[in-house]
Amino acid sequence: MTKEKRASWSGSLAFVLAASASAVGLGNLWRFPYLAAKYGGGVFIAVYLLLSLTLGFTLLVTEIALGRYSRQSQLTAFRQLGHPRWNFLGVLSTIIPLFILPYYNVIGGWVVKYFAAYVKLVSGGGGLDNPQAFFESFIAAPWDPFVCMLLFTVVTCAVIIIGVKNGIEKANLVMMPILLVMAVGIAVYVATIPGAGEGIRFYLVPDFSTCDNIGKVVLGAMGQMFYSLSLAMGIMITYGSYMRRCDSVPKASVRIVAADTFVAVLSGFMIIPVVVMFAAASGGGRAAIDAGPGLMFVTLPKVFASLGSAGIWIGFVFFVLVLFAALTSAISMTEACVAAVCDFFRIRRVTSVVLVCVWSLLLGAVSAFGYGRWADFKPCGLPALEFFDASMNVLTPVVAALICIYVGWVLRPKRILAECQRDGSAVGFKVFYVVMVKFVAPVLVLAILVSEVCRIFGIGGWAI
Ligand code: PHE
Repeated sequence: MTKEKRASWSGSLAFVLAASASAVGLGNLWRFPYLAAKYGGGVFIAVYLLLSLTLGFTLLVTEIALGRYSRQSQLTAFRQLGHPRWNFLGVLSTIIPLFILPYYNVIGGWVVKYFAAYVKLVSGGGGLDNPQAFFESFIAAPWDPFVCMLLFTVVTCAVIIIGVKNGIEKANLVMMPILLVMAVGIAVYVATIPGAGEGIRFYLVPDFSTCDNIGKVVLGAMGQMFYSLSLAMGIMITYGSYMRRCDSVPKASVRIVAADTFVAVLSGFMIIPVVVMFAAASGGGRAAIDAGPGLMFVTLPKVFASLGSAGIWIGFVFFVLVLFAALTSAISMTEACVAAVCDFFRIRRVTSVVLVCVWSLLLGAVSAFGYGRWADFKPCGLPALEFFDASMNVLTPVVAALICIYVGWVLRPKRILAECQRDGSAVGFKVFYVVMVKFVAPVLVLAILVSEVCRIFGIGGWAI
């Protein structure tokens, strides 16, 4: 796409909605609650909030401003900035979504399966009587996970082919508000269930005895924060490249961080109290709380089932919500990959969509079959899907730190701040921004990473 012809969002609200729809996804609804449960509830939330309001905001402003300044997707954006040695950052931040997208689509496929299961339940059928067995037999089935992923991927690509404005924007105008209303409704309902208090306490009150290592919690929260805000993957650079010059980057960033964090914390309120209640009632204890990636898919249907016929409807509404959120995020991730491939190879958009689609089906198959026919393939001892998910926790902070070092010390923060002022508004966080991007972000991210690597390899003295 040439500079002049680049499409743009129709207004600042459209931009914020689109970017929030990218941010709010499985990361908030599926990943955040299971990590919060695993890392000691309140401790994780406190660290997460602190990180997203400081580091998350800083990086979001940086990426959106970089995108709008260069008017390019991430792969070529860095070339516009005049420091050829740093062009690799564009490549790095393109590679990450290319590896996340396939396994993201697999989980999107799981959601499709549960959506279909609840459609069957509300229309009078059965099938989810034993959620544990249902989940285990589904992910281990020879074809089911692949077919569901295929469906999810094809729908995503179809929306992309319809185009930036027509497809994504219109879908978002409907999806985002519905999602918020549904999430608030479920969270309020859960809070009124007798016995929810203990779960809410578990979720909100920091209990340091459950987290043995604060470095691990900070790394977990940091990886989650980047993932959830769609950062360090070039997505926000690409979205920023479609942003109008008269809109405010900082204002949009504040709104995106607020919406994303709100939904993440809210989904904890939807999931964790019920999980804790269920764990206590079934005697499952920590193991039930620590269910990991299966938390949402195994424990929640059990809880919904225990609520009788109302539970079937709550389950149905819940999975509609998750499907919306997963689709909009997958659309944005696919869009970023497609735009990069388009800009780099100078090929037609449709060709690029087909290439990205085929790639994500091929790589996605590794994760989709990873609990069934290819279960023996275990990189680093993990099922393929969990391996990809865990690698992101390390890769995204590395890319984020490099972007901060580049902007802080090579490009200079004043270029980003100037882009923030383009709409004519004053920027009141200059000192904060400069300190964050030059010192705090790189030092914090690298310190946590070094500490984690030392812990993993048993190099004494360094682990926090
Ligand atoms: N932020 C999305 C989520 O929370 C995931 C995502 C990551 C989407 C990167 C796009 C790009 O689910």
